[in-house]
Amino acid sequence: MTRPLAADSPLLQPLTAGALQTANRVWMAPLTRNRADADGTPNDLQAEYYRQRAGAGLIISEGSQPSAVGQGYPSTPGVHTDAHEAGWKRIADAVHAEGGKIAVQLMHAGRISHPDTIAGQTPVAPSAIRPAGAVFTVNGEQEFPTPRELATDELPGVMAEFADAARRAVAAGIDGVELHAANGYLLHQFLADGTNQRTDSYGGSPENRARFIVEVAKATADAIGADRVGIRISPAHPFNDISEDDLSVYEVLTGRLAEIGLAYLHVLAEADDPIVGKLRAAWPNTFVLNTGFGVESDRDQFERLIADGTVDAVTVGRKFIANPDLVQRWAEGADLNEPDEATFYGGDGKGYTDYPALSA
Ligand SMILES: Cc1cc2nc3c(=O)[nH]c(=O)nc-3n(C[C@H](O)[C@H](O)[C@H](O)COP(=O)(O)O)c2cc1C
Repeated sequence: MTRPLAADSPLLQPLTAGALQTANRVWMAPLTRNRADADGTPNDLQAEYYRQRAGAGLIISEGSQPSAVGQGYPSTPGVHTDAHEAGWKRIADAVHAEGGKIAVQLMHAGRISHPDTIAGQTPVAPSAIRPAGAVFTVNGEQEFPTPRELATDELPGVMAEFADAARRAVAAGIDGVELHAANGYLLHQFLADGTNQRTDSYGGSPENRARFIVEVAKATADAIGADRVGIRISPAHPFNDISEDDLSVYEVLTGRLAEIGLAYLHVLAEADDPIVGKLRAAWPNTFVLNTGFGVESDRDQFERLIADGTVDAVTVGRKFIANPDLVQRWAEGADLNEPDEATFYGGDGKGYTDYPALSA
């Protein structure tokens, strides 16, 4: 048995991040689970999954496409039709009924997609550079195709899609949105020198490579208020065939986003990575850490990181998959259920809504 947390544990204290008031500092990390309807409509099974996890300070939803071409994998939710909006309303209502808060992660997959997933379209990217490897589709694993380079005059339309999706989320009663600029998807593809070889004002210098993300953030903030918009980044994370030699782009980006006044910065990095301290120093608002795929999220380490001011809040992924009442379990020092990796991506309620809570 682990020690229970003291009532004044930093993990259990409320936090105000822009317009988001969270009851504690243990937030749920975005987790793709591929259980939306085939047309991307969020369904009642998802509403039940999120309802069960409403004890998180803030739930950040699975990555959700702001447009049809932005979808990366089968059965991920969309935020671009009336049916999607109605589905998100059911989720928002279910989470709010339990006293929780939820943000939708807006994820445009860019080149990490396949025509089989996006009705025969060619995936789009900053540059026509094919990612190494294969991607899961409804027809099984398929080699990545070479993406189509977005023309400069198409970019305002993509920004508008993010803004419209944010508007739909808020209209559905969702508390905020997180822009997914991590893990090798479209926004990260613009930041990284390996995937962005543009010669217009969106490529080249760090200022130029940050430009698209800054303009997406501005458009989204104009749509729903900067205080409801967070952003996730993963500096130097090689996931999805990303290569980044020049990390100064993150300091430029953080400076620009701070001027817009986004609610929070969500960084995926190991806690002792020097970039964490650098970005924390450059960021005036709420700073949130996720320690990444390699190391397991650790309660006592997280408590220390908040206590010493390294971060304001943390997000937890896999432990929330297996423990709907993770915050209560951590508070009480109770044993944890183990996640079943075989049911992470796709399927029904098995390995999704059937993990037992303590009181069950
Ligand atoms: C099944 C699964 C799905 C994920 N989906 C997303 C996603 O949609 N968006 C995202 O930003 N990160 C995603 N991640 C990364 C997690 O948010 C998190 O960074 C990672 O799981 C490490 O945290 P943990 O050690 O607490 O699990 C996913 C991870 C897993 C295991």
